[in-house]
Order: sequence, then structure tokens, then C-alpha cells
Amino acid sequence: MTDSPSQENPSSNSPHELRQPRITLENDVVLAPETRRMFEEAIGAMRHHKTIYTDWGFGDVDPMGRNMILNLYGPPGTGKTLAAEALAGTLKRQYIHIGISELESKYVGDTAKNITAAFESAAAEGALLFFDEADTLLGARLSSVTQGIDNEINAMRSTLLIELERFNGVVVFATNFAKNYDNAFVSRIRYHIEFKLPDFEGRKQLWNRLLVMGVPLEEDRTLIIDRSAAASDGLSGREIRTVLRTAFPRALVENPQEPRVLWVHLESAIADVRAANRNVGSRRHEAASNSNSANVDAGRRMLGISD
Ligand SMILES: Nc1ncnc2c1ncn2[C@@H]1O[C@H](COP(=O)(O)OP(=O)(O)OP(=O)(O)O)[C@@H](O)[C@H]1O
Ligand SMILES: [Mg+2]
Repeated sequence: MTDSPSQENPSSNSPHELRQPRITLENDVVLAPETRRMFEEAIGAMRHHKTIYTDWGFGDVDPMGRNMILNLYGPPGTGKTLAAEALAGTLKRQYIHIGISELESKYVGDTAKNITAAFESAAAEGALLFFDEADTLLGARLSSVTQGIDNEINAMRSTLLIELERFNGVVVFATNFAKNYDNAFVSRIRYHIEFKLPDFEGRKQLWNRLLVMGVPLEEDRTLIIDRSAAASDGLSGREIRTVLRTAFPRALVENPQEPRVLWVHLESAIADVRAANRNVGSRRHEAASNSNSANVDAGRRMLGISD
């Protein structure tokens, strides 16, 4: 499932493709105040990085500190993938997105080499390197798989560790299952930035953003936003988007001639999302926490090995 706008670009298959961010943290991502503060701190550190590490020479005594590694973690659908692209936008850098699909299609049998190549492209272009769904990559050692697969995954992780240490740029990891990270990686990450499910204020901002101005409403927009924010407690930004994806066609099907989005459309769509959460599938982080098997499956997928 791809969510960031640029991921919908069909030509974006290469693992090393440089992408131009189309969004910024300031304009396009709803963040809790603590989360925003962490980003501001990290951005401040990046902006002054060259001064500290190169001009002042701190890099001579702190060579490991030359890179900037961030980890965005939190429940599914809270805007981590979105924020990684937006961070590149705010920093005015291009970015390279490396997700499961790139690993699946391009990294088969050659994962370590391709990881090195991604770091090389990022270094050459000053691009931000973004590893999405990174729990797969940074996970603890796999114990319940056959020796061959285990070795290859561990070789890939060693390469990643080496590259991280050589790299002078910005690396962003995102995960909804950070508990799975191996300590070797955790200790190299400078900022761990937590994404939470939005509170009332956050949900109001999300509704305000997603209930775009062109939507014909029956009632006062501010009132609808307040009511929707109150009714969507516990929903993520992605789920609020799903609510609107369902509610809009519902209003149109009901009255194609003179469509009006009514409270009842929003209310019923919220109820549908809640029902789906209860009845269908399992949330990714819950599934992953059940056992090591999710990690093993991800490792197998990454190496192109399926049962
Ligand atoms: N904080 C947010 N601000 C703005 N939009 C959001 C936010 N959270 C979610 N959304 C909306 O939901 C979509 C999905 O969010 P995104 O893919 O960034 O979530 P995620 O945290 O990466 O989820 P996962 O852990 O499942 O990968 C976004 O593209 C956006 O439309
Ligand atoms: Mg994501």
C-alpha cells in the first residue's frame, strides 16, 4: 500500500530514484506539539551541522556524529511516511524512498550491494535517504529461519551498519513496530520521534485539511469539523481519510443531482471504519507483536523467497 503522493507515480520503481518532495512539514503534516518540537530540534541540528562538524572540526573527534539518523515511530496511519517526504521538502533536499516494494523487486539476492548503491546516490546528490517500514531491515536477529536466509539478512544488516557510519547525510527510518529494532541500530539513531494517534486538536486539524473547501456541505463547516473531531476519537489520520473516501461517494450516490455531504454520511462512515477495525484483519503492529513470524515473513519477502 503506498500513501505518499509521489509514491503513486508509476515510474518510481527504481530503489535509487531521486524524488522531489512536493510537501513540507509546515504546510502538509498535522503533528502533535511534542512531535513538531522534536522535528524542529533535529532540523536545527541539521542546519548547523556543517558549521559544527566541518567548520569547527568536531567531525575530527566525533566522526560517527557526521550523519543525522532519525527514526519516526508510532501506530499505523499517523503520518510517518508523509512526514519523511515533508522533511525532505522542508530541508529542500531530494529524497530516495526505500520501501518493501523496492526491496522485493530490486534487491533479490543482491540486497547488500543495492543498499550500498542507495547510500552512494544519496551522498552524491545530498539527498535524504528514507527507509520506510524499517523494522524489516533493522529487526533483531532472526532465529527461527533456516541458516542460509538468516545469514543473508544478517549480512545485509552489517552492510547497513557500515554504510550508516560512513554516510554524512540524513537518513530517516520509519516504522510502526520500533520495538523490533536491533540495539546496534537503536544506538546509532540520533532522534527518535514519536507519532501518536491524533488528539482532539489534531483531529480537528486533520478534518479541516481533508474536508476540502469544494465539498458541498449542508451545515456549517466549523460545526461539522468539531463534531467529526469529537466522533473520531482513536482514529488515525489515514482512517479519517478513509472516512471521507467513503462518505463522499455515499452522498453522491444518494443524491447525484444535488449532492450534499450531511452529518449522517460522515457519522456512518466513521462507524464503518470502527467496525472494520474490529472485524477485519489485524493492525500491522498488533500482528507483528504476536510473534517473530511477521519479521520472518518480511525477511523472506525481502529476499524474494516465498513459500
Ligand atoms: N499527521 C498527519 N497529517 C496529515 N495527514 C495525515 C497524517 N496522518 C495521516 N495522514 C493521512 O493519511 C495518509 C497515510 O499516512 P502515512 O502513510 O504517512 O502513515 P504512516 O504513519 O506511514 O502509516 P504506516 O505505519 O502504516 O506506514 C497520509 O498520506 C495522509 O493523507
Ligand atoms: Mg508508512
